[in-house]
Amino acid sequence: MKINGVAYRSVWLDADGWGVRIFDQTKLPWMVEELRLTTWQEAAHAIRSMQVRGAPLIGAVAAYGVALAMREDAGQLDAVLEALAETRPTAINLRWALDRQRAKLHNLPAEARAAAAYAEAAAIADDDAETCRRIGENGLPLLQEIAAKKGRVNVLTHCNAGWLATVDWGTALAPIYMAHDAGLDVHVWVDETRPRNQGAALTAFELGAHGVKHTVIADNAGGHYMQHGEVDIVIVGTDRVTRTGDVANKIGTYLKALAARDNGVPFWVALPHSTLDMRVRDGVAEIPIEERSGTEVTELTGRTADGRIETVRVVAAGSEAANPAFDVTPARLVTGLITERGRCAADEASLLALYPEKA
Ligand code: MRU
Repeated sequence: MKINGVAYRSVWLDADGWGVRIFDQTKLPWMVEELRLTTWQEAAHAIRSMQVRGAPLIGAVAAYGVALAMREDAGQLDAVLEALAETRPTAINLRWALDRQRAKLHNLPAEARAAAAYAEAAAIADDDAETCRRIGENGLPLLQEIAAKKGRVNVLTHCNAGWLATVDWGTALAPIYMAHDAGLDVHVWVDETRPRNQGAALTAFELGAHGVKHTVIADNAGGHYMQHGEVDIVIVGTDRVTRTGDVANKIGTYLKALAARDNGVPFWVALPHSTLDMRVRDGVAEIPIEERSGTEVTELTGRTADGRIETVRVVAAGSEAANPAFDVTPARLVTGLITERGRCAADEASLLALYPEKA
């Protein structure tokens, strides 16, 4: 996708062919700053500190982290796989990418591992970009159908499931980019997505850079707009989808699904194959939910009028804060899933019909 007319991916190899480049997403939208990662520890730090985030991108950066580690010392494969797996718990794409590296590398002699790890990381990144493009193609008809009836489409999305969360295109935002590029009159309600504001900071930045009409709203405003017919469809991304179609995504997604059901608004979830976890049946009971620092709730960071980036406390001194980073939307609230293989209902039979090899 493009920033100021220049095409970027969210992770790419540096000109020297081994350093790994990312955007520091903790600096967006105030600064578009590239970072060069040269060790697996830097890759792990980038994931843990959310310089990169979003389920598919976490997987791709972890895969490049393995490549950096193999370049340094191919004997540390198992320890590095284990350490990278610990960086964030909820998105299954992380484990999926590390499992791919493990399968590729563990039987190779030490001297062959670095080249193979780089090749596998590049394959994972290319796979994600192409997968997301297809998710866009498979989601586009939903928006075309609404536009054909109403002349325009109002989409609501939560968190950031755009190209900054993947290698390119995004998941939930891919159909929106395609609709925009096809000339549809599309407008996006962007949930700000407290506490880290991925919607306000990242989704709004992306959509703006691409020229897509959008409005940032407080997280609690979505239900109101649904009640007044201002939301035609909700599309969100996900960090893990269970065998039965339960959906883990950014905290607050569940409340949007409840409001959507109450108002007859279709609630769609976009995902790549790497987000499916067929070992899990009951998402609420079994998916580990990341608990993050309460300071993300008690503090806010922003830019002052004179251009300084500052963090301020917004909660009364002495009050404690809890900060679960994700929630689980039960399959019964999900209208359907948009995948690279097509759309399907959020249930076991439909998922197995699309992905028989995962049975
Ligand atoms: O905590 P984050 O910013 O990594 O959370 C990201 C999300 O919840 C996204 O919606 C999800 O990873 C899907 S990204 C295509």
